Amino acid sequence: MSGNRLEMQILHREGLARIGRFKTDHGFVDTPNIMPVINPNIRTLSMDIMKKLGTQAIITNSYIIRRNEDLKEIALSKGLHHLIGFDGTIMTDSGTFQSYVYGDVEYENRDTVEFQLKIKSDISTILDIFSTPMDSWEKANQAVDETHKRFMEIADLAGKNNISGPIQGSVYDDLRVKSAKLMSGTDSTYLPIGGVVPLLEQYRYSKLVDIIINSKLNSDFSKPIHLFGGGHPMFMGMAVLLGVDMFDSASYVKYARDDRLLYPDGTRNLKDITELPYWSPLRDRFSTQELRKAEENEKFSLLAEHNLFAIFQELSEIRERIRENTLWQYVESKSKSHPSLYSAFRRILRYSENLEPYFELYRKSPLFHFGEETNQSPYGVRLKKLQPSDTDYYTLSSGDWKPARLSKDFVKNVYEKTEGHFYINWFGLKVPLEMEEAYPVEQVIPWNEEKESGSKKPIPKDIKIRDFNLEKLRFLADFQFGENTGKKLFTDNCEIAVSRATGRIRTITREGKIIATMRAHDGFIGLTFAGGLIIHGMSEGIKNRVMVTEESATYNSQGKSVFFKFITNFDDRIIPLNDVLVVDPNDRLVAVGRSMVSGKELGMYREGTAVSINHHLE
Ligand code: GUN
Repeated sequence: MSGNRLEMQILHREGLARIGRFKTDHGFVDTPNIMPVINPNIRTLSMDIMKKLGTQAIITNSYIIRRNEDLKEIALSKGLHHLIGFDGTIMTDSGTFQSYVYGDVEYENRDTVEFQLKIKSDISTILDIFSTPMDSWEKANQAVDETHKRFMEIADLAGKNNISGPIQGSVYDDLRVKSAKLMSGTDSTYLPIGGVVPLLEQYRYSKLVDIIINSKLNSDFSKPIHLFGGGHPMFMGMAVLLGVDMFDSASYVKYARDDRLLYPDGTRNLKDITELPYWSPLRDRFSTQELRKAEENEKFSLLAEHNLFAIFQELSEIRERIRENTLWQYVESKSKSHPSLYSAFRRILRYSENLEPYFELYRKSPLFHFGEETNQSPYGVRLKKLQPSDTDYYTLSSGDWKPARLSKDFVKNVYEKTEGHFYINWFGLKVPLEMEEAYPVEQVIPWNEEKESGSKKPIPKDIKIRDFNLEKLRFLADFQFGENTGKKLFTDNCEIAVSRATGRIRTITREGKIIATMRAHDGFIGLTFAGGLIIHGMSEGIKNRVMVTEESATYNSQGKSVFFKFITNFDDRIIPLNDVLVVDPNDRLVAVGRSMVSGKELGMYREGTAVSINHHLE
C-alpha cells in the first residue's frame, strides 16, 4: 500500500501546458517529464548515468518481472526499487502492450494489479485493452467499456494506491471523449493516453492532436496526463502544449539499436553524420568515426545516452518555454521542421476555439505575429470575438497605428470627433482600437508587410463627441467583466488620471473613490475593492464570481489567498489571470483578486492557490 495519493500541483502555465509537480512515496516528479523505459532484464544505461541525466521517474514492466522467476523472487522479497536499483518514482505497466504485440497475456487483470502493489510500485496500471488505430468503432467502443470495467474491478485497491487508468478509444474522437470522462470518474490518480504507439511510429501527428485534445479536455486536470510511448523530442513540445504532463519512452534505446541519434527536431543515422552536436554528452569523448567503430554493445549504450540526453534537453527547453510563456511560439516555429508536424499544427488551429478559454488574459512575452496563423491562434480567436458585427467601421492605415502608439493627432481630430468603430487591420483580423494598450495588441511584434487596408474614410464632426480614454476603459471592462459593465462602471462623471510623462491612464476615480487602475504590465483594468463592489452590484448570478466557504471568506476578507479546496461555486467563463469577485456563501463581496486558472479548471484542482487577493474588505 502506498501512502501518497498523487495529485498535480501547478507552478506555471500557458494555456493547457503546465509546469507542475506530483509526489509519490519515492519523491517529487517535476512535470513535464519523461519516464525512461527500463527493461528489467537488460541494462542499457547504468542507473548512475540515468540519474546524472536527471531521471526522476522510470517505467518498467511488471509482466516481464512476473514471468521471470528470479526477477519475481527479488521483486517480491526486496521490492521493485531494489530490483531496479532506483530510489525515485517507479511506474509499472501491466502487460497490455505485450498482449497487443504478442497476443494474449497469461494473467488476469486483478492479480496483475495486486502483483504490482505487492512489489511496491509507485504507480500501477490495470490490464487495459489496447485499441489499435485500425480497429472499428464498435471494437474500440467495447475496449473503452472493458477498460473502464477493469478499473472498477480493482476499485477497492485504488482508494489508497496510485493506479493509472488508461484512456483508450482508438482514432475516434467521441470514444476518446467517452473514455477520458469514464477514467477521470474513477479513483485512478494518473491518466495515460493509450493506444497511440502505432500513430507515433507513423508520424501521424495530426491524428494525435485530435486524440490528445479530446482526451485532455474531458479529463480531470488534477491528474497527470501521460502519453504512452511518446518520447520523440520532435513531438513532445506539441504534446505538452495540448496538456500532456508525462511521457515514457523506449525510443532512446530503440533508436540506438538501429544506430540512430535523436535530435530536437528529428533523427539522424550515425553513418550519415560527420560531427556530433555540441550538446551531445558524447562529443568531448568520441569522434563520429570512433563511435562507428566502437564495439556493438558499447556503441549501443553510448547512443542511448546521447538519445536520452536529447530528450531531457528538449524537456528542459519546453519547461523554460512555459515559464516565459513562449511555448505556443516554439511549437509554431518547430512545426516548420517537418510536414507531419506542420499539418498537426494546422490541426491545432482548428481547435483554437476550444483552447481559447484556457489561455491567460496576458503573458510575459510579446505575441509574435506571423499573419494568418497567428490570427487563428487562441489569442487571435479571442480578438475575433471582439470584431464588429456591424458594417459601420473604419480600419486604420499603418501610418496611424504602430504597436501601440496611436498618433495624438488622430485621437484628437478623428477618433474623438467621429462615431463609428475603428479597427486596426492585422492581416484581415480587425482589432478594436480601444485594445491598443492591452495584451496582446500593444505587445505584438508584427510581421511587417506594409499594406494599406482599403479603409473607409470617416468624416469627423467639428466638435469632440467622445473621449478616447473613457471609450477604452469601457471597452476593456466589457471584455474583462462582461458586456455592458463598461458604461455602468465608468460613468460620464468618473475622473481619469493620466500619466504626465506617457499620457497613459493611471487611475479612475468615482465619487471620491479610486475604482480601478490601468495595469502597466498588460494594459488591462485592475479593480479596487470599490470597483469590485460596483460590478458586484450590477451583475446577477455567478458572473465573474468565485464563491467560497464561510471560513475561507473570513480569511480572504483579510487578504489571504483563496485555495481551490474552499471554492463552492464559480463562473466557468473566467479567463485565467483576470480579476474576479470573491464572495461568501451569501454572495457578499469579500475581496477582489486574480484567478490563477480558467473557469473551466476552478473546480478541478484541490491543491494550491486559486485566486490571489489584490484588495479586500477589511
Ligand atoms: N504502452 C504503450 N501503449 C500502451 C497502452 O495503451 N496501454 C498500456 N497499459 N501500456 C501501453
